[in-house]
Amino acid sequence: MENFKHLPEPFRIRVIEPVKRTTREYREQAILKAGMNPFLLDSEDIFIDLLTDSGTGAVTQDMQAAMLRGDEAYSGSRSYYALAQAVKDIFGYQYTIPTHQGRGAEQIYIPVLIKKREQEKGLDRNKMVVFSNYFFDTTQGHSQLNGATVRNVYINQAFDTGVKHDFKGNFDLEKLEKGIQEVGPNNVPYIVCTITCNSAGGQPVSLANLRAMYAIAQKYEIPVIMDSARFAENAYFIQQREAECKDWSIEKITYECYKYADGLAMSAKKDAMVPMGGLLCFKDSSMEDVYHECRTLCVVQEGFPTYGGLEGGAMERLAVGLKDGMREDWLAYRINQIEYLVNGLEEIGVVCQQPGGHAAFVDAGKLLPHIPAEQFPAQALACELYKVAGIRAVEIGSFLLGRDPKTGKQLPCPAELLRLTVPRATYTQTHMDFIIEAFKHVKENAANIKGLTFIYEPKVLRHFTARLKETE
Ligand SMILES: Cc1ncc(COP(=O)(O)O)c(C=O)c1O
Repeated sequence: MENFKHLPEPFRIRVIEPVKRTTREYREQAILKAGMNPFLLDSEDIFIDLLTDSGTGAVTQDMQAAMLRGDEAYSGSRSYYALAQAVKDIFGYQYTIPTHQGRGAEQIYIPVLIKKREQEKGLDRNKMVVFSNYFFDTTQGHSQLNGATVRNVYINQAFDTGVKHDFKGNFDLEKLEKGIQEVGPNNVPYIVCTITCNSAGGQPVSLANLRAMYAIAQKYEIPVIMDSARFAENAYFIQQREAECKDWSIEKITYECYKYADGLAMSAKKDAMVPMGGLLCFKDSSMEDVYHECRTLCVVQEGFPTYGGLEGGAMERLAVGLKDGMREDWLAYRINQIEYLVNGLEEIGVVCQQPGGHAAFVDAGKLLPHIPAEQFPAQALACELYKVAGIRAVEIGSFLLGRDPKTGKQLPCPAELLRLTVPRATYTQTHMDFIIEAFKHVKENAANIKGLTFIYEPKVLRHFTARLKETE
């Protein structure tokens, strides 16, 4: 099959979920009713849903079959041990706590690591800063709720859609070390490494960068947590782009990467392919005390620590999903699908972030230069895309970023992006062609697309529930 232009879907699709086709008039009414916020649309009214790849993809036959093996015992379930064993095999981590999803893990480990730093190193909560290549919103939210200031130390090329770089998700190591010295290492309770870096457009972090980041963390005795939603995609990029690893399997790369962290928090709804689930795991005895504290918090927040927020069947399914999600042929297909979409968009003059793991990120600032950042060009683009073709996408720009809580001013955003997130094994190449064609129509009408202003703006997490209208 080496000489063929396109690799077709390397699986058979055996379950059909019907979708509704609607008219433009219907969609115009629907998006108006939803306050020009695609989050508030009904799924029934969507033809292609690119809101997220989180829990929205297909599951495998083996995952479905595993559900039936569930041991639903309240404590000490056999299914828990199957999951903990999968974690040991894949990541080499000794301690596992299941959670209902990624943020379930975050709400547990963040206060525990802060308390530990306070007790052991005299952390000053008023000066506390946490670092990441880029915090995902909920990780940032939990850190802030616990009193920390967050600092993203990404490389300069990360958000520049005009620049190519193999590892745009990398930490800027100099900014990281200088930052730690500036706030004082004792005031840094943890570093979060997000792989792939979701906010920069699903961009990978190199193995070399992981090693160097971890060396800095060790020097200052700061624990590192790997935010692991897309760990397999990151490993695939490393295999393709980092000379040292070109002959390594995804399994070997993954195992190696996780040596450079002390714990992992995972939204298992992405690369581990489950509709719902998460993990909080720790590497070895150096984190045993943290593990025990987290288990206690788990009881009150998620459930007894051998099921967290999950039923037995779901833990079995997750144990299989972690492994199925690492299949190299599927990863190759998935990354190619994103590349195909990005290349198709670029060919018709729609500028995108270079292809990343899970989504195409359209530069809405460049497509709609007449709409200022405060009128949310990427949100306006999302609404137009829905009107044109029933496609739902999500704004990753000023609207998501929000206001400075102290001044109430809109925070400056490095880029106004529209994320077209592709669920796993759910949409085919024909869907990608349809999306590209939809953008042709959007582009033809670009000059007439209007910016948006608020009708209702919640104080926090406005992205999800705000209502907007077109500017006059
Ligand atoms: C990098 C990253 N971390 C954490 C989360 C939060 O996970 P969940 O949505 O499962 O709570 C997500 C979800 O999108 C994510 O992409």
